[in-house]
Amino acid sequence: MESIRNIIVLTGAGISAESGIDTFRDAGGLWEQHRVEDVATPEGFARDPQLVQRFYDARREAVQQVDPNPAHDALALLDQRWEGELLIVTQNVDDLHERAGASRVLHMHGELLSALCARCETRHKWSESLLGQPACPGCGEKALRPDVVWFGEMPYQMDRIYAALRRADLFVSIGTSGAVYPAAGFVRDAREMGAKTLELNLERSEGSYWFEESRQGRASKLVPEWVAEMLG
Ligand code: APR
Repeated sequence: MESIRNIIVLTGAGISAESGIDTFRDAGGLWEQHRVEDVATPEGFARDPQLVQRFYDARREAVQQVDPNPAHDALALLDQRWEGELLIVTQNVDDLHERAGASRVLHMHGELLSALCARCETRHKWSESLLGQPACPGCGEKALRPDVVWFGEMPYQMDRIYAALRRADLFVSIGTSGAVYPAAGFVRDAREMGAKTLELNLERSEGSYWFEESRQGRASKLVPEWVAEMLG
């Protein structure tokens, strides 16, 4: 691909759907099963921490039962082979990119397999339940919460993301509905800064208009095809 050296890839729940993880807004998705205000806001956590811990405990357990799919594998291959800059910015809190072998990954909405202490703000790798209010390994306080960014909270590492957007020659979005900002605005930022833009999604997303090219289909098919094009 002529003149493309720096790539930024944004992924959403759609890339993990074929691994058996529910998306949020598709039919039967998480936000049909749960009220966002109850399980994905600081206010909901203050109101009913048990309900929230149970919700993330179930997701933490579920993610450990599934495996990466060909879309994750293809991005991991690109990560291993691409000599230019590459950053996989994921909105997903699962660890399937890393389990597929990708290392240039940034979790802007946090990670299920991590616990954050609300008291000392340290993070701890966590694969078990948080329901029983285990003590923080750092400060001993019973203040561990899911290390996930809730609505109304600031996503992680935004400086690093914007720096990568500024340097990007190509912005690719995979498996996201474009419903949630600031991620949904990245395509416009990238485009305004001169990057080419490509969307790979089951259907056109809310931000499809901003992409120069949009391909519809399953990630497990579209992503390996696109990576093969990039690696030539
Ligand atoms: N292949 C490709 N795309 C798919 C597939 C698939 N197999 N299955 C679903 N999709 C697409 C859907 O068409 C939809 O556009 O993935 C998108 C999933 O959208 P959402 O469920 O809204 O998930 P996402 O965009 O990641 O949500 C963004 O919202 O709830 C918050 O913090 C949460 O990170 C999440 C953010």
